[in-house]
Amino acid sequence: MNETITVLGLESSCDDTAAAVVRLADGQGQILSSVVYGQTALHAAFGGVVPEIAARAHAEKIDLCVEEALAAAGLALSAMDAIAVTAGPGLIGGVLSGVMCAKGLAAGTGLPLIGVNHLAGHALTPRLTDSLAFPYLMLLVSGGHCQFLIAHGPDSFTRLGGTIDDAPGEAFDKTAKLLGLPQPGGPEVERAAQGGDPTRFAFPRPLLDRTGCDMSFSGLKTALLRTRDAVMAERGGLTVPDRADLCAGFQAAVADVLAEKSRRAIAEYLTLDPAEPVLAVSGGVAANADIRAGLETVCAAAGLKFVAPPLALCTDNAAMIAWAGIERFRLGLFDGMDLAARPRWPLDTSQPALLGSGKKGAKA
Ligand code: KG4
Ligand code: ZN
Repeated sequence: MNETITVLGLESSCDDTAAAVVRLADGQGQILSSVVYGQTALHAAFGGVVPEIAARAHAEKIDLCVEEALAAAGLALSAMDAIAVTAGPGLIGGVLSGVMCAKGLAAGTGLPLIGVNHLAGHALTPRLTDSLAFPYLMLLVSGGHCQFLIAHGPDSFTRLGGTIDDAPGEAFDKTAKLLGLPQPGGPEVERAAQGGDPTRFAFPRPLLDRTGCDMSFSGLKTALLRTRDAVMAERGGLTVPDRADLCAGFQAAVADVLAEKSRRAIAEYLTLDPAEPVLAVSGGVAANADIRAGLETVCAAAGLKFVAPPLALCTDNAAMIAWAGIERFRLGLFDGMDLAARPRWPLDTSQPALLGSGKKGAKA
């Protein structure tokens, strides 16, 4: 394979404005540049992403991001083969900023326009980083996503299950808030859990009694709140060891649920008889050492390779969108100026919608 394709990617679906240039050459993807402007500071005072603030910041930054990405790659816009952009799912104001910018660039240059599903961007990343062959099993696990997917092809995914309420990262963040720890909560809860006793408090393992791969994390957060209140009522406050035990117990519950549901997803995936069975993970929560260790154990027991792209490519970025654009380019999947920005865009439309998921509106 000696096809060379260079694509500019744009991402603006949540709270990161990003642009990247990715090239396929000699069958291998190469990130020529990847620029991400986070908005954490803008939203910090509000305890969550404020859609209007996010949209305005995207509109202000997206063209600067594009300029920086092209400069860092040392390439002009005319050296691109296409413009790829996240067209959903996400906060609509942000998605619109990216789509309008991409349409402007495509109209001005005559380059083809490619609309990319943000979740497909995450799900195809292991092909950029580890050249995975289809079909592989994917676990997206972040602040906004939690689902098991089988990737059959660049435009073909089966969703085996997902969260019916909160994403695990969201639950980690809320846990941190309830325990007076800073945001983002995941790394703080993980740190606080070190040396804690995960068995002192009995936290539930939601939906393990239900067949299939659907998950639920909002009840865990409520259990944590009740347990915290009970400890505080009994002792008049939380000691450092109390907090460590609460964090350790919560983390163990999330890790157990993800490990058990992965076992079930793997069993379903293996019925496809893949030549090189793989479970790939993506998303910030995959940085958690206990969760990762649980997934690695399950994979080893089932004979699967475990793949985790570098963290900067697991969290939101535009290199994954440019890469997904390259995959679509190779299939001849282009879009016209009627490309729509979509707040909801399930990857697997044959599955019923995950009731309750996406209620928070950030990502479907
Ligand atoms: O993928 P990501 O950067 O953004 C999206 O949500 O798309 O994931 C961020 C989430 C946050 O909720 C954060 O608390 C969580 O990932 N996270 C962790 C850890 N590091 C980040 N959760 C648990 N343990 C960690 N070490
Ligand atoms: Zn994402």
